[in-house]
Formats: sequence, C-alpha cells, structure tokens
Amino acid sequence: MSSKEVAVIGTGYVGLTTGVGLASLGHNVVCADIDPEKVDMLTRGEMPIYEEGLEELLGKALDDGSIRFVLGAEKAVPDAEFVFMCLPTPQDDDGSANLRYVYAAASEIAPHLESDSIVINKSTVPVGTAKATTELIGRDDVAVVSNPEFLREGSAVRDFFSPARIVIGAPALEIGERVAELYGSMDAPIQVTSPESAELIKYAANAFLATKLSFANSIAVLADKVGADALSVLHGLGTDERVGPYFLSPGPGWGGSCFPKDTRALLHIAETNGYHFEMVNAAIAANRDQLFHVTNMIANAVGGRLFDKNIGVLGLAFKKGTDDVRDSPAEAIIRRLIDGGAHVRVYDPVAQSDEFDMTDDPYEVAADADAVVVLTEWDEFGELDLDLLRSRMKGDGLVDGRYIIDPDAARTAGFHYRAIGRY
Ligand code: UDX
Repeated sequence: MSSKEVAVIGTGYVGLTTGVGLASLGHNVVCADIDPEKVDMLTRGEMPIYEEGLEELLGKALDDGSIRFVLGAEKAVPDAEFVFMCLPTPQDDDGSANLRYVYAAASEIAPHLESDSIVINKSTVPVGTAKATTELIGRDDVAVVSNPEFLREGSAVRDFFSPARIVIGAPALEIGERVAELYGSMDAPIQVTSPESAELIKYAANAFLATKLSFANSIAVLADKVGADALSVLHGLGTDERVGPYFLSPGPGWGGSCFPKDTRALLHIAETNGYHFEMVNAAIAANRDQLFHVTNMIANAVGGRLFDKNIGVLGLAFKKGTDDVRDSPAEAIIRRLIDGGAHVRVYDPVAQSDEFDMTDDPYEVAADADAVVVLTEWDEFGELDLDLLRSRMKGDGLVDGRYIIDPDAARTAGFHYRAIGRY
C-alpha cells in the first residue's frame, strides 16, 4: 500500500481516531478543526477525549511527522487526494439528522479541492447525503464517497484497526477501489457498494443492534413475570449461532450518542420515504419502557414510594469504559428518582455531572441509604466489599440494573437483592 495524502475534517472521536489510524497505516494526514484550542492541544499531543490507546498512537504519529493539525478545513485540503468528513450530525426535533456542519464544510473546501480528489463522508448521514454533497461541491473532477464508521466508544482504536468490515459507497467501482486501497493493509472484508446502500447499512446496523437489545430487555421483563431466569434464557438464545451471544446483556436500556439518535433518524428517513418502520418504533418504545421497569423496581426496593428516601446510585456513564453521559439510561433514571422526591447520591469512576450530588467514593453512596442501585456495568462494582457497603446503609435494598452483583453474595451480606428476571 503506498502512502497517500489525506485530510480529515473534524477531530471528534471519529475524526481523531480516523486521522491517527490512517497516519499509523503510513499515510500523511492533515487534520482540521474549527476550535483553535483543540488544534493547539492536539499539536502538543494532548487528548481532548479519552479513547484507550489513542494518545500513544497520536504521540507516535506526531513524532514521525505523519500527522499535523490545522485551523480550518480550507488549510487541510490542498495536496490531499482523500478528504474525510468526520463532522457532527446532531438530531433535529423531528428526529432527522442535521447536516449543517457537513454542508458548511463541503462548501468551504469545494474550491480548494485537488482535481481528481475524493471526499469521503464518515459521519452517520441520511440516505442521499453523498449525492447531495456531490451537487453542493459541483465539480465533476471530485467524487463523493460514503465510508461509514462503526466505532464504539471505549473501543474506537480497536474497532478502527480490527473492523468487522469496511463499507465503501462509491459512484463508480474504480473510485471505491481507490478508497479501499487506503485500508489495504487491514485484514477485514471490504464491501464496495452504492453511496445510498452504504449510508443505509450504517443505520441498519445500529438499528438492528438496538432492536436486538430491546428484544433482550423485553425477554428479561417477561422472565421476571413468569419466574424464569433472564440470563439463562438469553444465554440459551445466544448459543444459536444465527443469533450469537453478543448484545444480549439486559440492562436499564441502550443509550449513548448513537443508538438513540440513529434509531430516530432511521424512523424519520423511513417516514419521509413513505414507509412506517414499526419494528424500530417498537424497539424505541421498549427502550423507553425499560427506564420505567428499573425505576419501578427501585421504588419497590424502598417500600413503594420514592418520596424522601435516600438512594445511592453506582454508575452514571451510558456504558462502562467511557465518561460519556449523552442519553445515558443511568442519567434518565436518576432524574426520575429525584422527580419522585428521592435524595440521590451518585458515584461513577470517570463520568461526572454538575446536575447531581456526586461522590468520588463508591461506599459513600450507601451512607444512610434505603437502597443502592447499579446502573453502569463498571467491573469495579462487581468487586465491591458488600459487607462494608451494607454496613453504611439504613435500608437493605440492592437493585442490580446490570446483573453485575452476585445475588447469593448480596444476600449473605444482608441485602434484599433485586434484578429484572433474576432472583
Ligand atoms: C454504537 C455501535 O456499536 C457502533 O458500531 C456505532 O459506530 C456507534 O454506536 P456505542 O454507541 O459506542 O457504539 O455503544 P455500544 O457499545 O454499541 O452500546 C450501546 C448501548 O447498548 C449502551 O448503552 C450499552 O450499555 C448498551 N448495551 C450494549 C447493553 O445494554 N447490552 C449489551 O449487551 C450491549
């Protein structure tokens, strides 16, 4: 694979991972951002976000001169054969993805793009965006490609270097093959398809995973009602290789910056194209209901009423391995507890919020508490000294929203253990 000149517009967790990843593959990368502080920080090798392994790779790429950071997209594109757009696509009130940043960047770089360069959109965008961006750029010597990212927060570097697949949506096969060459040294299946198909693959992937999770959570609720063991049922489901064991861990619901946004965006894309995607609608509804089921279990754990009760919450991030609280089910449940009149104290090893009474000691959340609740699956919560935790409490309620505490160990420590579909 030969070294190519690459520009990356946007240095969020997708843009930064993509830029550093491509530099590590041997390309010459220029990353642009509109935030001067961020550009200076990255130039110094300092990280604005936490992603395991990214800081070391950034340092290496800076040392060997394979990456640099500039202010403004216009400065990044001269000499670039490939221009990655890694820009935010926030959700509008109607669920649609707002493309203002994508279109603004495309308009800005259009007159400065090298002839025969390829603009590559990595952001999650509605079907048809590559086509619309092509028209916006308005140059027949520049092609636009969709190359959606499948990076998970907390494992973005791993997902970049070991993707399940690389999807490239290109207007012509030879354009797609030029983009595929960038990833040449990777051992991953490369699928070249149309731009519309690549754009829909991204939504289909996230919506399917969210639907699978909502199914798992609904099975846990049903198991609870019929006295079955949720984890055993889901294990028996996942051993069928057509289903697979992953993404069947029940919990308080799915959150983060992607699933909630992408499922609603897919609904909107379907609606505006004359199709009502009821299955995705149902997955969103089941996810909303999961917040109710967990909140209800907590209320029962403190005698049926939340008012004036003390509740300790372990976990605020939307999942372990990240400090991200965007659309976190933990945050949504804490708000419901507070709205119900409870006094809530929260501990998370990395996530923080000024909105809640937070402590940096996991045992502190138990002080004088009527119940303790686990809402994020941090490994350390499975290793807590349960006797010490119980000794700090007033009540004996333990609600395990992530099935991470051993029920027998909890009972031995004097807790009344509760988890949906687990006894
Ligand atoms: C997701 C997709 O996985 C990734 O491919 C895409 O590029 C971006 O969106 P991310 O949002 O970072 O990644 O988180 P992910 O690890 O997929 O988890 C999403 C949510 O599902 C989290 O709230 C997580 O706690 C929850 N989850 C996941 C479960 O409740 N149970 C599981 O078994 C797995």
